[in-house]
Amino acid sequence: MKILVTGGCGFIGSHFIRVVLSEHPDWDILNLDALTYAGNLLTTMDFQTSPHYRFIYGSITNKELLERLIPGVDAVVNFAAETHVDRSIADVEPFIMTNILGTQRLIDVCRKNGTRFHHVSTDEVFGSLGPDDPKSNEFTPYDPRNPYSATKAASDHLVRAALHTHGLKATISNCTNNYGTHLYPEKFLAIAVTNVIDGKPIVIHGDGQQKRDWIHARDHARGILSILLNGKIGETYMMAGDTDITIADTGRLLLKVMGLSDNLLVFMNDRPGQDRRYAIDHGKIERELGWTPQVSLEQGLAEMVDWYRRNQDWWRPIKDSAGYCVWYKEQVQNIKNQI
Ligand SMILES: NC(=O)c1ccc[n+]([C@@H]2O[C@H](COP(=O)([O-])OP(=O)(O)OC[C@H]3O[C@@H](n4cnc5c(N)ncnc54)[C@H](O)[C@@H]3O)[C@@H](O)[C@H]2O)c1
Repeated sequence: MKILVTGGCGFIGSHFIRVVLSEHPDWDILNLDALTYAGNLLTTMDFQTSPHYRFIYGSITNKELLERLIPGVDAVVNFAAETHVDRSIADVEPFIMTNILGTQRLIDVCRKNGTRFHHVSTDEVFGSLGPDDPKSNEFTPYDPRNPYSATKAASDHLVRAALHTHGLKATISNCTNNYGTHLYPEKFLAIAVTNVIDGKPIVIHGDGQQKRDWIHARDHARGILSILLNGKIGETYMMAGDTDITIADTGRLLLKVMGLSDNLLVFMNDRPGQDRRYAIDHGKIERELGWTPQVSLEQGLAEMVDWYRRNQDWWRPIKDSAGYCVWYKEQVQNIKNQI
């Protein structure tokens, strides 16, 4: 089996490559990544030298490149995306280019070559749930509420359109918030862990009562692999970590794991477009493919803290560089202006 992974220098794509290399050491993996600010060759250090792995620098929007690569592979797994909500609020164009146009170009070339395609998507396409709403499932209507999730929703629709119109051999997965090692330090849990390592507070947007269901990226990667192997063409599968927990309580749990008290939590203005609750019912993938999340939040956070403590060369240059989180920096500047 030879697969093309897109976006494998990012957070979840790199976890997927690790899982594939360990569970199927005879598979060949091509990793196509445009090395945007979120892509990092250091993230792939532990498998870069594997004889079954090859990195290709390039964009999923480059159709000529896709036309050269895809005829030689059995399947394409698409992780490549612009993923940070705050950045999509500041400038949506790169999201439209990669998440929508790039996905369509992958679809076109896969369709032409009859190549199996798996598209990685998010629970954010379902919008915000009320406190008593049932969890989202495969039948929940889409209701994206920020520019990032709108572009992901568009890409899901394009995959389904190609499936029905052209017989694209595709599956889709929608998953809740991921965490784990190699998480870019502009996402909440990576900022939180690295702040606390530096003796700084964990900053919570708004009242901290927004609910999230955290899943470890390794569990997500295992689920995608099982869909690729045994999923039914045309189907969508949902994944979650079974940790319906508020952001404030997530911060408290992290502090507990690090042996510290709650007074390191601080609350600041909510960002625009912040959804109150995401939650996913993963019953279908459990019933049909036997997948369930394995890593508890406490265990995953402890592993994450240990990794960020031991890999400061990975995150310090990113966190110290300008613009790692545009909205956060603006908020800090606003606060400074008010003082
Ligand atoms: N992070 C989450 O919590 C989460 C949850 C559910 C679904 N997802 C989805 O999983 C996928 C991966 O997310 P992530 O958190 O690993 O993202 P990430 O931002 O960490 O990594 C994205 C990767 O894609 C690459 N990339 C961006 N544009 C590209 C292009 N045009 N061509 C090729 N490569 C490009 C980047 O260089 C980077 O390596 C995304 O599709 C995202 O929507 C993420």
